[in-house]
Amino acid sequence: MSMATFTLPFFLSLLLLPLFSLLTFAADNTTGTIGINYGRIANNLPPPEKVVALFKSQGINKVKLYDTDAAVLTALANSGINVVVALPNELLSSAANDPSFADQWVQANISHYYPQTQIEAIAVGNEVFADPNNTTKFLVPAITNLQSALVKHNLSSSIKLSSPIALSALQNSYPPSSGSFKPDLIEPAVKPLLDFLSKTSSYLMINAYPFFAYEANADQISLDYALFRTNSGNVDSGNGLRYNSLMEAQLDAVFAAMSALGYDDVKLVVTETGWPSNGDENEIGAGKANAAAYNGNLVKRVLTGGGTPLKPQDPLNVYLFALFNENQKPGPTSERNYGLFYPDEGKVYDIPLTLAGLSGAQTNPVNESKAQVPTTAPSSGNTWCVANANAGDEKLQTALDYACGEGGADCRSIQEGSTCFNPNTLEAHASYAFNSYYQKKARGTGTCDFGGAAYVVAQPPRYGTCEYPTGY
Ligand SMILES: *[C@@H]1O[C@H](CO)[C@@H](O)[C@H](O)[C@H]1NC(C)=O
Ligand SMILES: *[C@@H]1O[C@H](CO)[C@@H](O)[C@H](O)[C@H]1NC(C)=O
Ligand SMILES: *[C@@H]1O[C@H](CO)[C@@H](O)[C@H](O)[C@H]1NC(C)=O
Ligand SMILES: *[C@@H]1O[C@H](CO)[C@@H](O)[C@H](O)[C@H]1NC(C)=O
Ligand SMILES: *[C@@H]1O[C@H](CO)[C@@H](O)[C@H](O)[C@H]1NC(C)=O
Ligand SMILES: *[C@@H]1O[C@H](CO)[C@@H](O)[C@H](O)[C@H]1NC(C)=O
Repeated sequence: MSMATFTLPFFLSLLLLPLFSLLTFAADNTTGTIGINYGRIANNLPPPEKVVALFKSQGINKVKLYDTDAAVLTALANSGINVVVALPNELLSSAANDPSFADQWVQANISHYYPQTQIEAIAVGNEVFADPNNTTKFLVPAITNLQSALVKHNLSSSIKLSSPIALSALQNSYPPSSGSFKPDLIEPAVKPLLDFLSKTSSYLMINAYPFFAYEANADQISLDYALFRTNSGNVDSGNGLRYNSLMEAQLDAVFAAMSALGYDDVKLVVTETGWPSNGDENEIGAGKANAAAYNGNLVKRVLTGGGTPLKPQDPLNVYLFALFNENQKPGPTSERNYGLFYPDEGKVYDIPLTLAGLSGAQTNPVNESKAQVPTTAPSSGNTWCVANANAGDEKLQTALDYACGEGGADCRSIQEGSTCFNPNTLEAHASYAFNSYYQKKARGTGTCDFGGAAYVVAQPPRYGTCEYPTGY
């Protein structure tokens, strides 16, 4: 790896300008956002004012609701928090069949609160294709009427309309490149929906739960892959892309399904994802340690990485499910145990939710016994920096050159004949260099990014027998 040692000043001067802008503006471009779903199917939750204070204390400025509750929307006014509200499934037929209903609903439930309450989108229905009350046929007509109402109230440029769909809308999702929608949904619902989203520059809302896939196929899916932990990944046989997490594979299956219908321009927002901290005996994988690992690693992935292998330039925007454990949800035990918080606002487990929290966790490792983050290797509380293979060779090479040159990383071990030369791959060498840089910078915020070419992991990287130091 000759580039690991270059020191030509001429090269550096060429390199520094683009790299400087890459490092400085990466946050605007390649890092995603974390929001939280504020579900309220419970009889023991704190009042909305206290919940808004909780969001603020956690540094969370994006929230998704399941209705337009007056007390909640009022509490969120002038809070600096952006809000996705919802029109519940029960109102879809009225909104579809009666334009004046849609108009009055927008007047009473949106206009009335905006802009004091920063409503940024309306989720029209929730998982409508899976609704046993057969509301699918109302979806697009309802959205159309609501859009007319937004236009009338001069809100259409400020507020997006979309609808959260469940992954069960897919016919195929494996390998991701073969992703397709269920044939019977395509003409009546999916195409008109995507057409609307494309024309209004809106995005598809997707509820994605790797937990369900893992629970049903625990014998075939590795837990590390489901929990965003270091793993050898899976290669998509259709296009050769490598996946290191089930969630990214799920999202790319949706991208592939949209692409197959000619909608390559529609972006995704993950409106729900989560992992239960408790479950029935047959709910394989449910538990506090796994929930902390899933959500903690997901937050790191979103705030420090780029997009998915198919869409590396599109940051991941994710709403965690959910803020609280909700004691009145029906179904198996897991349903009442997706919360990050107990109703008394105590944490179910302790994970960072912001970039500031991530860098805090790096310098002050979370108390392991409290956080219950499982480790497959000894150690921990430590974090490492690894290459994002999805960033592409060119970006990795540029960042590797920078790290080993100007960046001052210790790259001796990846020279030919040295301990970490093998595996002799760009990804492994870049990971070594990025980690050295990151550790030397005391794991400071933004020191494991390289414009989206790197991200932080909580497990020691595994490339051959190479050891990745945590101190220099
Ligand atoms: C994001 O950064 C890439 C270069 O890394 C650039 O090509 C692209 O235009 C940027 N996108 C936006 C939306 O700024
Ligand atoms: C919409 O607003 C009306 C009037 O304030 C209220 O009665 C109704 O409950 C709201 N609808 C929803 C779904 O919150
Ligand atoms: C289906 O519709 C009925 C009547 O409106 C309602 O009581 C029930 O809660 C609905 N079920 C679902 C799953 O939305
Ligand atoms: C929904 O559609 C299915 C199949 O068409 C039908 O069997 C079922 O009765 C319908 N349910 C309702 C609540 O209309
Ligand atoms: C419509 O909304 C835009 C902002 O989205 C604002 O600039 C404009 O003044 C509004 N027009 C009217 C007539 O209120
Ligand atoms: C870590 O948490 C455990 C259990 O809550 C507690 O007993 C212990 O004192 C804590 N250790 C530190 C260093 O905070």
